[in-house]
Amino acid sequence: MKKNIVFVAVVLLIVTLLYTLSRKEFLPIPADEQHIKINVKEKCLECHGQDRIAPLKKEHPPKDQCFECHKMAKK
Ligand code: HEC
Ligand code: HEC
Repeated sequence: MKKNIVFVAVVLLIVTLLYTLSRKEFLPIPADEQHIKINVKEKCLECHGQDRIAPLKKEHPPKDQCFECHKMAKK
């Protein structure tokens, strides 16, 4: 019986851990007019570059391949 409780506790721990990790997932690219047709990062930076209409935060991670982290939101 004690073994079962330990087992359940461990499983719960793993599930919570995975859940918290997946919460850190990257923001999806909004599936709106502005984003839907874009597939190169040069285009992204026309709006998200410094001094553009929606600049990235300073602490934004490396900005190489937007699509490695940001996936298109599902409609
Ligand atoms: C025409 C200008 C424009 C282009 C091009 C553009 N974006 Fe955006 N993007 C915006 C604006 C404005 C917002 C914020 C408006 C909003 O919250 O819907 C935004 C929001 C976002 C968000 C969500 C931010 C949040 O806080 O939820 C992500 C992620 C994003 N863009 C990524 C990208 C990527 C990756 C590309 C290239 C594929 C791209 N954008 C191209 C204008 C643009
Ligand atoms: C290494 C992974 C990674 C790459 C590559 C990446 N991003 Fe992000 N992006 C993130 C993370 C992490 C966040 C922060 C999410 C949060 O604050 O919850 C973020 C946030 C954003 C936001 C929301 C505003 C902000 O600054 O927090 C926008 C817009 C955005 N990214 C656009 C882009 C664009 C455009 C590119 C390509 C030029 C890009 N990202 C490349 C991981 C990445």
